Amino acid sequence: MVTIAALFVSCSTQEQQGKGQMTEAQIEQRIDEILPQLTLEEKAAMCHAQSKFSTPGVPRLGIPEIWWSDGPHGVRAEINWNDWGYSSWTNDSVTAFPALSALAATFNPELSYLYGVALGEESRYRKKNVILGPGLNIYRTPLNGRNFEYMGEDPYLTSVMAVPYIQGVQSTGTATSVKHFALNNQEVDRMSVNVKVSDRALREIYLPAFKAAIVRGHAWTIMGAYNKYQDEHCCSNKTLLMDILKGEWQFDGVVVSDWGGVHETDRSVVNGLDVEMGTYTNGLTSESKFSFDDYFLGRPYVNAIKCGKFTEKELDDKVRRILRLNLRTNNGWGNGRMTCDEHMKVAHDIAKEAVVLLKNETDVLPLNKDSELKIAVVGENAVRSLIKAGGSSELKPKYEVSPLEGIRNAFPKANVEQSLGYTSGMSVYGAVLPPRENQDSLRLAALKIAKEADIVIFVGGLNKSHEQDCEGGDRKDYLLPFGQNQLIEQLVEVNPKTIVVLTSGNAVAMPWIEKVPAVVQAWYLGSELGNVVGEVLNGTINPSGKLPFSYPVKLEDSAPHSFADAVVYPGVDKQEEYREDILIGYRWHDTKDIKPLFAFGYGLSYSQFEIKNISVNKTVSNLNISATVANMGSRDGAEVVQVYVGKNDSKVLRAVKELKGFKKVSLKSGEEQMVELEVPIESLAFYNEELKSWEIEKGGYTVYVGNSSDNVQPFDVNID
Ligand code: BGC
Repeated sequence: MVTIAALFVSCSTQEQQGKGQMTEAQIEQRIDEILPQLTLEEKAAMCHAQSKFSTPGVPRLGIPEIWWSDGPHGVRAEINWNDWGYSSWTNDSVTAFPALSALAATFNPELSYLYGVALGEESRYRKKNVILGPGLNIYRTPLNGRNFEYMGEDPYLTSVMAVPYIQGVQSTGTATSVKHFALNNQEVDRMSVNVKVSDRALREIYLPAFKAAIVRGHAWTIMGAYNKYQDEHCCSNKTLLMDILKGEWQFDGVVVSDWGGVHETDRSVVNGLDVEMGTYTNGLTSESKFSFDDYFLGRPYVNAIKCGKFTEKELDDKVRRILRLNLRTNNGWGNGRMTCDEHMKVAHDIAKEAVVLLKNETDVLPLNKDSELKIAVVGENAVRSLIKAGGSSELKPKYEVSPLEGIRNAFPKANVEQSLGYTSGMSVYGAVLPPRENQDSLRLAALKIAKEADIVIFVGGLNKSHEQDCEGGDRKDYLLPFGQNQLIEQLVEVNPKTIVVLTSGNAVAMPWIEKVPAVVQAWYLGSELGNVVGEVLNGTINPSGKLPFSYPVKLEDSAPHSFADAVVYPGVDKQEEYREDILIGYRWHDTKDIKPLFAFGYGLSYSQFEIKNISVNKTVSNLNISATVANMGSRDGAEVVQVYVGKNDSKVLRAVKELKGFKKVSLKSGEEQMVELEVPIESLAFYNEELKSWEIEKGGYTVYVGNSSDNVQPFDVNID
């Protein structure tokens, strides 16, 4: 018989993925053999941290520790054993992949899979069992500091993009930890706010991506959120963890707490938490002295079992799951690889398809590669790092190409001059910052080079510092910070050829939109940001990204802010009501007839596409949609065919339309292609709160086909 120690040793020394791997059934058998050999103390120890990012194994049996790492855009640098400081290793620089909001903008699930595989390989190389991601919380308000880590406002898009990411990561033997389950839609009072949401909004908007991640993606772990639901913290929440996740969805993996998200022993024991991490910290910066044994699932749990309050039934279930995770991730996988050319290419390919061209009047873009123009590059984001910030998702990249460098590379014959124009007062690569009071001199210097230039490229936006797309705080308002709006207005005044490039993971107000000829949404693209910005501006890349969330004209146009009531956002006395119910994002804009600045699904190309010959047919179980997409322009490019469906005369509140299918097609100039999409009729159901089940209404529906949520053609269908 193979001993347990030998089992783990032989697996972890195998070089080649796939060789001699245990099947799921063999893993279960193994667990049956191991479990009876463990003491009460050994079992409880496995249920909580032994350091900031590891949980113990059982040394005497050769059962290895489990190592967890952030996530979700690359493998985070090594953190100290028991404080939030970095360990200053020199072998932990990684590939920084585009943020998940950018990945969502590609509308390309194949890229999600490649993202997952590359990230999984980097995780294995760094000896991590679990990568803490993807983030699947829905974009509810443009103020949420962590929207850049999520995949936008639509549950269908998020689901379709999340599943291959998870499958990709786990195909390398690294577990994903989908987070933050659930209703973690803001950073204000994130540790304590109690979310009141209707069952319909919960089921139709906030849970579908998690369900897809578990049921279709088979994620091996899931992370509980900090906030409360039904007055119970999500990390020990009966409804979410026991009834829905482990009950309805039959989740067989590990529920890990968010770092510092556990507050008591009893509910954590019985309500489905398996692993407790980061207790007595705020999850990011502060902490207090404690012993890991004092965690809620440590000594207090052991004592509660010893004095008969609990049996070992719940503990055995937790340990069974933890061993399953341990065996799944120590199952003869390869060693992975890191910062190789292939991973850089993956990061670059995703970034290429993520950029969204928001405006391009008189085809000012692309600029000629070989032009000898005088180009003025203005804005702090042209030169600062946008990777080493943002909270737990920050990374130590092996390299990062700044937009300034990218622009210089993209226009080798141009005369490129650079000026900050403004400063956030935070560190900027390669530039000595003047004090904040010298903003005026910065502005004047920028206006001077702008005036003398043939073209101005302004690179600004948010920057992942506190309250500017960063964990631990929401944005204070919807405007661009640090005087950028005024600066843009002044730049266009001195030089009408001012192109705006924005980095952010959130929508921002654009009061100057009518005055500038072109706007490019460049997200946080990771290591390759600068190259891709340059290649979009010079036309090497033909933009094909689409917005994964709506851009309201003003904050009050977005659902939660329209109520102008603090109880709807950010909550009063830690109580918050999701009064907009199911009408988030474009569902709100469409249904309330409030025109957005830019709609969900929108994005221009340097080419022109036509979607024609659309037909919609109903079968017993599907709506079959077919259309021809033609590239009418002179450049190769890609278009995303989007299918939305709405119920006419519903008996319940419904959005005018909801995304139910999409397909991205790459076409050479002049080429056309037929596209076929299948929408399961099942997916048209709403959640009936009285019956507590999904219901498909009979009668008339409208199918909308187009290339953005506000550019569609309607087709009637009847479901009987
Ligand atoms: C964040 C998680 C993260 C964890 C570990 C928490 O503050 O909310 O997303 O994975 O810290 O760094």
